[in-house]
Amino acid sequence: MVNNRNEIEVRKLEHIFLCSYCNVEYEKTTLLEDIELIHKGTCGINFNDIETEIKLFGKKLSAPIIVSGMTGGHSKAREINKNIAKAVEELGLGMGVGSQRAGIVNNNLIDTYSVVRDYTNNLVIGNLGAVNFIVDGWDEEVIDKAVEMIDANAIAIHFNPLQEIIQPEGDLNFKNVYKLKEVISNYKKSYKNIPFIAKQVGEGFSKEDALMLKDIGFDAIDVQGSGGTSWAKVEIYRVKDEKIKNLLEKFANWGIPTAASIFEVKSVYDGIIIGSGGIRSGLDIAKCMAIGCDCCAVALPILKASLKGWEEVVKILENYIKELKIAMFLVGAENIEELKKTPYIVKGTLKEWISQRL
Ligand SMILES: Cc1cc2nc3c(=O)[nH]c(=O)nc-3n(C[C@H](O)[C@H](O)[C@H](O)COP(=O)(O)O)c2cc1C
Repeated sequence: MVNNRNEIEVRKLEHIFLCSYCNVEYEKTTLLEDIELIHKGTCGINFNDIETEIKLFGKKLSAPIIVSGMTGGHSKAREINKNIAKAVEELGLGMGVGSQRAGIVNNNLIDTYSVVRDYTNNLVIGNLGAVNFIVDGWDEEVIDKAVEMIDANAIAIHFNPLQEIIQPEGDLNFKNVYKLKEVISNYKKSYKNIPFIAKQVGEGFSKEDALMLKDIGFDAIDVQGSGGTSWAKVEIYRVKDEKIKNLLEKFANWGIPTAASIFEVKSVYDGIIIGSGGIRSGLDIAKCMAIGCDCCAVALPILKASLKGWEEVVKILENYIKELKIAMFLVGAENIEELKKTPYIVKGTLKEWISQRL
């Protein structure tokens, strides 16, 4: 069953502060450094003509960037969601909210999520945990509540086995993943035909996962691979017991690096792919788009900026867009469709990964 309400709120608040002020990132990388986009020496385009707009889940975005779902469920989360919403509205981008479980179990917390709709009409993605459908028997009515809570344009279902196994209060039974097939199909029949996104939280999906997610009926996969926020690292700061700390340290670098996860997923999946987990620059975004993504998502840097104010979030996202445009100029891509066709090479560990797996 769901945890005690206060427990969820306290844990969420702890996560925000630990992620903001401690080193919670992987030592290993996304492997995006093993991708090289081929410089176009003749360039052949006018920088001022570069167009970064895309359409995602029926909404226009000024660039292929969304803010990953992170929070909700307490007053600090309300402020963070508000700042992110203001920033994405200003720039014409999209955002997700964090797990809506707190709002599902306690109506008084709904406002900490729904606040985003006071500030943006752009793409907003809801967020629920796969494990709650599998273990707690949640059904399509819960999805309806989550969608209505924020007038969501799409809903992300997060899969977080590492997080659950390392949290003292975690749910450990992911056996009946196919339960989601029935729930998604029932929701689409009885309520709205909105897109469903399978989302990881920083450890990535494999090609075997992607095949299963396709079969379950997910319209999109948000890979959220390794190289950015490491949940084992986050939990190391929360536990007091030295033995558990030692155990967590062994898993601090667990996961499929983001670039490898993108190649794994695209080898078998023809739905929408979001490149995410450790995305820290516009160049990272350009690389993800070139290797097969339809959009990218960023979490940790936006969380940190949002605690300082919405203008700080705008600054970071503006930088990403500027860097993306510079990369597009240097490969001679006038728009995102052209960027997706840009040639690249794969080297080092990523090349080895691909040769062994795909
Ligand atoms: C403070 C914090 C809270 C998060 N909460 C959620 C959540 O509720 N639901 C979810 O799907 N992902 C959650 N995430 C995971 C992010 O969406 C993302 O998958 C992960 O942080 C990797 O991206 P990054 O390297 O850009 O941070 C959270 C991340 C952070 C930093």
